[in-house]
Amino acid sequence: MEVKTSLLDNMIGVGDMVLLEPLSEDSFIENLRKRFDHNEIYTYIGSVVISMNPYRSLPIFTPEKVEEYRNRNFYELSPHIYALADEAYRSLRDQDKDQCILITGESGAGKTEASKLVMSYVAAVCGKGQEVNKVKEQLLQSNPVLEAFGNAKTVRNDNSSRFGKYMDIEFDFKGDPLGGVISNYLLEKSRVVKQPRGERNFHIFYQLLSGASDDTLKKLKLDRDFSKYNYLSLDSAAVNGLDDAANFRTVRNAMQIVGFMEDEVQSVLELVAAVLKLGNLEFKPESRCNGTDESRIKDKNDLKEMCELLGTEQSVLERAFSYRTVEAKQEKVSTTLNVAQAYYARDALAKNLYSRLFSWLVTRINGSIKAQPKARHKVMGVLDIYGFEIFEDNSFEQFIINYCNEKLQQIFIELTLREEQEEYIREGIEWTNVEYFNNAIICDLIENHQNGILAMLDEECLRPGTVTDETFLDKLNTICAEHQHFESRRSKNSKFLTDHSLPHNCFRIQHYAGKVLYRAEGFVDKNNDLLYRDLSQAMYKANHSLIKQLFPDGNPAKVNLKRPPTAGFQFRASVGTLMRNLQTKNPNYIRCIKPNDKKASHIFTESLVCHQVRYLGLMENVRVRRAGYAFRQAYEPCLERYKMLCKRTWPHWRGPAREGVEVLMVDLQVPLDEFSYGRSKIFIRNPRMLFSLEERRRQCLQDLAALIQKIYRGWKCRSHFLLLKKSQIVVSAWYRRYAQQKKYQKIKTATTVMQSYTRGWQARKLLRELKYQKRCKEAVTTIAAFWHGTQARRELRRLKEEARRKHAVAVIWAYWQGLKVRREYRKFFRANAGKKIYDFTIQRIMQKYFLGLKRTTPSMSPIDKSWPARPYLFMDGVHSELRRIFNHWRCKKYRSQFTEEKKAVYEEKLEASEIFKDKKALYPSSVSQPFKGDYLEISKNPKYQKLNSAVDEKVLLADVVNKINRANGKGTARIFLLTKKSFVLADQKTGQVKASVPLPDLTSVSVSTQSDGFFALKLKEGSASATKGDFLLSSEHLIEIITKLHRTGATAADSEQLNIDISDEFLVQFKQDKVCVKFVQGATKNGNSVSCKRKNNRLLEVSVPTTA
Ligand SMILES: Nc1ncnc2c1ncn2[C@@H]1O[C@H](COP(=O)(O)OP(=O)(O)O)[C@@H](O)[C@H]1O
Ligand SMILES: [Mg+2]
Repeated sequence: MEVKTSLLDNMIGVGDMVLLEPLSEDSFIENLRKRFDHNEIYTYIGSVVISMNPYRSLPIFTPEKVEEYRNRNFYELSPHIYALADEAYRSLRDQDKDQCILITGESGAGKTEASKLVMSYVAAVCGKGQEVNKVKEQLLQSNPVLEAFGNAKTVRNDNSSRFGKYMDIEFDFKGDPLGGVISNYLLEKSRVVKQPRGERNFHIFYQLLSGASDDTLKKLKLDRDFSKYNYLSLDSAAVNGLDDAANFRTVRNAMQIVGFMEDEVQSVLELVAAVLKLGNLEFKPESRCNGTDESRIKDKNDLKEMCELLGTEQSVLERAFSYRTVEAKQEKVSTTLNVAQAYYARDALAKNLYSRLFSWLVTRINGSIKAQPKARHKVMGVLDIYGFEIFEDNSFEQFIINYCNEKLQQIFIELTLREEQEEYIREGIEWTNVEYFNNAIICDLIENHQNGILAMLDEECLRPGTVTDETFLDKLNTICAEHQHFESRRSKNSKFLTDHSLPHNCFRIQHYAGKVLYRAEGFVDKNNDLLYRDLSQAMYKANHSLIKQLFPDGNPAKVNLKRPPTAGFQFRASVGTLMRNLQTKNPNYIRCIKPNDKKASHIFTESLVCHQVRYLGLMENVRVRRAGYAFRQAYEPCLERYKMLCKRTWPHWRGPAREGVEVLMVDLQVPLDEFSYGRSKIFIRNPRMLFSLEERRRQCLQDLAALIQKIYRGWKCRSHFLLLKKSQIVVSAWYRRYAQQKKYQKIKTATTVMQSYTRGWQARKLLRELKYQKRCKEAVTTIAAFWHGTQARRELRRLKEEARRKHAVAVIWAYWQGLKVRREYRKFFRANAGKKIYDFTIQRIMQKYFLGLKRTTPSMSPIDKSWPARPYLFMDGVHSELRRIFNHWRCKKYRSQFTEEKKAVYEEKLEASEIFKDKKALYPSSVSQPFKGDYLEISKNPKYQKLNSAVDEKVLLADVVNKINRANGKGTARIFLLTKKSFVLADQKTGQVKASVPLPDLTSVSVSTQSDGFFALKLKEGSASATKGDFLLSSEHLIEIITKLHRTGATAADSEQLNIDISDEFLVQFKQDKVCVKFVQGATKNGNSVSCKRKNNRLLEVSVPTTA
């Protein structure tokens, strides 16, 4: 439920002055003070907001606050400037009413701050989006730019606006900002050339000098030192809490956001610099021949620099400060200027330059922020204009400012009263006229076209002849003397003749906000606002884009002899336009009050506040507001707020709100003259009445609170109890469930156990039975088997017995038959018949044997060892004899095929077998090798031709042998040749004969029993060949060589039989020595080959590998 709050909640003092009771100036100020002390700086008078300047930042302008006030009713929350801004914005957006926000108050009262708060609030609550945000940003950023050029430190305000500003913010139908238009009013340009004590020139001068980079300053030909410039007052150059350098950066940034081009910014700064330079120009008198003084510029350096900045010709400007051209009726008259006039001209140029620059800035900003013209706009105007000013010394500016305030008061009175009146009419309430002071008469005194003060000033300014401030004052004295708000010493009205507070050169006006004494001095000049044409023309000629625009009146082509409108005239016209503009809009007032003169927080100077309250006409405001009815409220919120005071409306009223309120009023017995019923609102005449209602409401709220508390507590305890009860049931239900579950589980397990026991028992019983049955079956089977076995055996026995008997019978029968037959046939056989049968049988067997042998004889190969098995034992001898015969026969058959050579070969082989078989281990391996004889093919090989010719006999054997050297046992290859008569040893390579031994000289040959090829050829002692000793040789063909030696030796008729000695140890005669050659078995180092080593002088050891 939305919490309805009201302005009336938590009030400090009263939030709305209309409710002040009793109403007096004292109570009014007391209320302000009370609220101010509690940081409540805003107070309402109806819809008008009074704002006290807190002079310190309060935490009430946060984004949260903006949200709090957003879319809330004006009286719903405590007074705030946001409430007013929200009200204005919403009625602009929702009801399509153009709004204006009028902010008034004296200098330093917080008008500019207030206007910024309003703008920032509107910016925060209105639509969002890229385009909209850009517009908002530009609108907000126009402030710093204008403040830099238009604000200055004054004694009252460190950031006092020295111009009036009215800004129209334009919105589309949705309430999104589209753009804005700024109007400026009367810049206080005299400040450019002179500032009152304790005040400063416009901020921009100081900002430029402190904030610009060295580079920029150099370009502008400026020096950072303030003291170098005549136009800058020094006594308050630095202001507390004001950072000029930082502000300069802010301003430049803001200018960029608003859309100033870089060269535009540069031009603006050049003009500012030019104004400073202008201030430094000084003049000296120079006497002329006609006796008059003519001014001359003292130091031309500044002038030169200024001319460079502005792009003007130095001589033109110089001349403009010395002469003045007056044009009248096609005549040009040039007059010289004296020093004073030159200074006047200089200051006038500076003021004009600056004020025109300021106006140009406003126009330029407007160019950037202005809305597209196409759509229909809703407008919210914010007026931040200088407040009423009463100084010790008041001049033309104060007069103009105060005139403006008069006009605003006028519009305030008009609009407030009109609004009030309209409301009464709208609501159908009878209207009783209220007495109030209408300042129209003062406005008339000033602005009347015929005899208003401004009109007379203009008349004086335009009048030919000598015109001075005195003549102007005289004129006033004559014409306005009768006016009740005009006071002057010289007027004929004797009342003031003795009034010493009114000097002769002054006049006094009774403004609505108090009497103000104006000094007539300077009125005419300031109103004229004269700039010598020579200067404006010089400016126009400048080669500077901006300057030319600022001085269009200097264009010689457009020489206008008519005088330009006076300052007063211009101001009156623009104020008139402003007023007309404001009148078309719905006004919202913010009235700013300054609590003290010290710019200090927490100080409330009663006299000062009292003064402001008076001249702002706030008391009157309250009175007017209260003239009819002090308080009004729509029926719905009224009923909502007070319905608890009556039983019939509490808690709900079903009917229309108005009837509810009527019932309420009757029930509360409110006297009838205390209030009236309007169409949509109830009007309460007296605040006392409202407060009594509020008091009753407060009481009632307390009771209601107690009631609510009571019911709430009851409800809370009850619901707690119910909750406990419910919980208890739940808990017990869960517990019971749990217990039952447990019990059930137990029963279930018990049952299962019992069940398993029973089943086990039953199963065992069944098993036993089944086992018994099985055993029975087995027993039966066994018994049956045994029984059948017994029977079968018995039967078998019986059958065997029977068979035996039958056999026996048959045998006996056969014997018996045989016996019978033999007995019967004995007589027919001879006694030798037995032998014949025997022979016949033998014959038959032999026949069968031989016939079978024919089939089974083995192959004809002599080495086939197979022979059929003998069939009968008795034929053993025959069988082996037959075998031998068969073998002989087939060998003979085999031999008969041999040629002579083959026969010789076999004979040789046979001889070898006789010599070596079973004697030498080498023999078996030689059996399968055919004896080739001539291994070297000596007759065919040309290598051995010589050798061949050396032996005349046929070579029986030619082979390579190793001759063993007895010194080391190593072998040397030799060719061994054997012929019928001799054997020859020759060199293997050359074929040269080494030894030739006739065979008869060879007595014996020694070889080992083993598988080596060593053999020793022993020679006959004393023979010619034996001188060199025996030969120890080795050959692969040992068996063949020895066999052939043996055969050849045998065939040679004149020789003895060659001895062949086979033993493992034999002696060999080497020249003189006999050496023993010993053969041992064993593994040799070099594998399987035979090695021979000399062991000592008498022993050569040949180791032969063991044959497997
Ligand atoms: N709402 C506020 N909160 C805090 N300080 C304020 C407020 N309004 C004004 N001030 C202070 O008062 C000074 C003067 O306010 P300003 O608006 O410039 O006065 P005015 O425009 O009426 O001459 C400001 O510089 C600021 O220090
Ligand atoms: Mg201001």
